[in-house]
Amino acid sequence: MNNKEQTYLSKSGQVNYQSPSNIAIVKYWGKTGIQIPVNPSISFTLKNAVTHTSVAYQYTKGNNTLDFSFAFEGKNNPDFEKKLQVFFDRIMDTLPWLNEYKLQINSENTFPHSSGIASSASSYSALALCLAKVHFQITGEELGINTVSNIARLGSGSACRSVYGGWNTWGTSSLPNSDDEYAINIDDQVHDDFKNIQDSILIVSSDKKSISSTVGHQLMKNHPYQAGRIEQAKQNTNALLDVLKKGNWAKFIEITESEALSLHGLMMSSTPGYTLLHPNSLKIVQLIREFREQKNVNICFTIDAGPNIHVLYPLSNKKEIEEFIENSLAKYCSNNVVINDELGFGPNETGVAGAKS
Ligand code: PMV
Repeated sequence: MNNKEQTYLSKSGQVNYQSPSNIAIVKYWGKTGIQIPVNPSISFTLKNAVTHTSVAYQYTKGNNTLDFSFAFEGKNNPDFEKKLQVFFDRIMDTLPWLNEYKLQINSENTFPHSSGIASSASSYSALALCLAKVHFQITGEELGINTVSNIARLGSGSACRSVYGGWNTWGTSSLPNSDDEYAINIDDQVHDDFKNIQDSILIVSSDKKSISSTVGHQLMKNHPYQAGRIEQAKQNTNALLDVLKKGNWAKFIEITESEALSLHGLMMSSTPGYTLLHPNSLKIVQLIREFREQKNVNICFTIDAGPNIHVLYPLSNKKEIEEFIENSLAKYCSNNVVINDELGFGPNETGVAGAKS
C-alpha cells in the first residue's frame, strides 16, 4: 500500500443529491476567462424543477487518469460526457483525488427535456454537491459552500446560484461579500413578499434551441452594445437589491421585464443576429401586460435563453393568475403545457436537510 492510498479514508461509496434549477431576474450574459461573468446576476431557486444525481466512486489504485461514466435517465450520454471531461479538467486542482478514482454518475430530472428550465444549472449544482461529499468521505475535509458554488460555476455559470435555496446573487456588485467565482445567498436582505414568489413556466416550444447559451455568451464579446449592457446589468442589480429589500412589486416588474427583453434584444443585435422567441412568446407577453393593466395585479414575465415564458407573481394572487393562465395563455403553449413552480429552499442530500448558506 503506497502513502497516497493510506491517506484516503474511504475507497468506495456512493453519494446522492438533488438540486433545483433557478431563474435569473438580472441575467448573466457574457463571460470572460473561465466562466467569469461580465456582469452580476440575481436569481431565485425553484422548488419542483429538480435534478437527482448519484455518484458511485471506487479507488483505482493510482491509475493517474480520471475514469468516469455518465448516464442520464438510465442511458449513457456521450455528448454530456465530453462536456464533463472539460468540467473535470477545470476542477482537478481543487479535487486532485479525481485522478485516482472511477466515478459512475447517474442523473435524472423531474422536469421535461428542453422545457426551458435550465437543466445545466440543476445538474452541475447537484454534481458539485455530490463531489464535495465524496471529497469529504475520501479526505475528511469539508468544503465550504462557496467552494461548492465555485465548482458548480465551472460546469455551468448559472449553476453556482443553485447550490442555495431562495434568492442569490453571483458576480461582483455593491454587496461587499459578492464574488465573480461563486454565488452568495441574500435571503436575509429580502422582504417576506418576495419569499413566496410563484413561477408558472409556459412551454411555448420544447424544440432544441437553434443557438446554445455557450454561443450566445461568446457573441457578447464583440457586441456593439457590450459596454452598455454591462452598465445596465450593474444598475439593475443595485436597483433589484433595493427592490427585494423593500418588497416593491411595481419596480420589480419594471426591472424583470426590462432584463428579459434586453437579453433577447442582445441576441437579435449580435453578429450574426438571431432570435429564440416564438410568435406565441410575444403574444403571451402582450396578454400578460394587458391583464396587469386591466386587473391591476402584480404579474410579470421573465424569459431565459429560449421561447418559453416564466410568469412571476406573489402567492396572494395565485388563484386569479392560474385561472388567467389556464383560460387565456395555455392555448399558446405546446400541447397546453404549463409547469407551476415557485421559490424553493435549495438542494438536499437525498433524505437529509438541504445545504444552507
Ligand atoms: O449558465 P449558462 O451558461 O447556461 O447561462 C445562462 C444564461 C441565462 O440563463 C440566459 C441567464 C442566467 O443568468 O441564468
